[in-house]
Amino acid sequence: MKIAVIGTGYVGLVTGVALAEIGHTVTCIDVDPKKVEALNQGVPTIYEPGLGEMMLRNQKQNRLFFTDQHKLGLADAAVVYLAVGTPQNTDGSANLSYVERAAVEVAEQIDHPVVVVIKSTVPVGTNLRIKRLMMRRIRPGVFIRIASNPEFLREGSAIHDTFHGDRMIIGTEDEATASLLAEINEPFGIPIVKTDLFSSEMIKYASNAFLATKISFINEIANLCEKLGANVEEVAKGMGMDHRIGSAFLRAGIGYGGSCFPKDTNALVQLAGNHHHTFNLLKSVIEVNNQQHRLLIDKILERFGSINGKKVAVLGLAFKPNTDDLRESPALVMIPQLAALGADVIGYDPIAADRGTKWISAPARYTNHVAEALDGADFAVIITDWPDIKRMDPETYVRLMDQPIVFDGRNCYSIAAAREANLEYYSIGRPNVVPEVSK
Ligand code: UDX
Repeated sequence: MKIAVIGTGYVGLVTGVALAEIGHTVTCIDVDPKKVEALNQGVPTIYEPGLGEMMLRNQKQNRLFFTDQHKLGLADAAVVYLAVGTPQNTDGSANLSYVERAAVEVAEQIDHPVVVVIKSTVPVGTNLRIKRLMMRRIRPGVFIRIASNPEFLREGSAIHDTFHGDRMIIGTEDEATASLLAEINEPFGIPIVKTDLFSSEMIKYASNAFLATKISFINEIANLCEKLGANVEEVAKGMGMDHRIGSAFLRAGIGYGGSCFPKDTNALVQLAGNHHHTFNLLKSVIEVNNQQHRLLIDKILERFGSINGKKVAVLGLAFKPNTDDLRESPALVMIPQLAALGADVIGYDPIAADRGTKWISAPARYTNHVAEALDGADFAVIITDWPDIKRMDPETYVRLMDQPIVFDGRNCYSIAAAREANLEYYSIGRPNVVPEVSK
């Protein structure tokens, strides 16, 4: 099948590469010639484990192409995926201008029947609106069909998720389009759920909102555990064994970030509001998450009073491990607050260190060597549970820091390990570890 994918951002690039991998001939179209040039040279424009190798393999086998020319990319495509961004407007709603622009471009260029598949996360009703927008611009005699095929990939494990997803949602207006898409995606071997356009769009928002709710719920339980002397990890384990609850997304921490949960929860609240419905539960989920981003600052101030002039090592900038993505990362909140309180901040990240200066508006230095960050620090703050941080022997803090005091926003070490290493250790929803004689 000949397929075009518009947008080579995170979703578009992974979708294009994966569709080529299962045997389709795919042309990815992007308006940015620099991106297209890099991609044509086999250089992925995002960091995602396993993506580069898969991309190169399919380019070499002449199944995957990149262009900035819509006409060329759309030439004989039977299916066109729209995978452009839907960033957040200032009022929290989804900005649909990129989707609209891409749809208009397709409508104006296409000279044969196509199925337009919307991968971008869009508010309920958008697919139909996009179809009408395209119909008004399409050449006489050209026929389009529309499908909603939302994306459930997690950054950092996108390739794995593509081939091992729990389900694929296909929303259409007719069975023929649903069957065509089911056939295209059949080699992924993932259960396919065929539904209507509106429900498909809602499944994406509802899924992300529910997962965000699980995280904020366990974070509230964690905050309560701290007050009552319980351990949130024990609580999550005990809860998660009930299959009606499930153990996933019950890791307490400094809150969720990334390109999806914050944006999609806000958009759903906004969408509900537009229809005179106040989504109180989701509003609280968002509020809890915002509070959680600030939680470690309160703990730090309670411990030190003032941190003016203290050297702090911030470990991890990315919103989660295995990505260089800083979007909505708690680091964007923590580092400016630490700097504003007079701390001398040095941030560490194995992949995203270079992005610190550009993304974080605060006086701070950045390194991709953890030892450089910890050397002589008065305290450390863990933002991202990178494997190298989790694997690090807690003794390292004692060896390198001026004072081995660690505020762990991701519960990277067991309480026993922290105690054994003689760390002063504050984590989320678990008892504090304070050695009898703090250095
Ligand atoms: C998410 C959804 O999982 C995916 O289906 C959707 O398509 C896009 O949004 P992603 O943002 O890549 O994917 O990351 P995910 O692994 O879901 O984590 C999101 C955030 O939640 C991260 O900041 C992570 O640290 C946090 N999180 C996750 C927790 O704090 N606790 C958990 O138990 C799980």
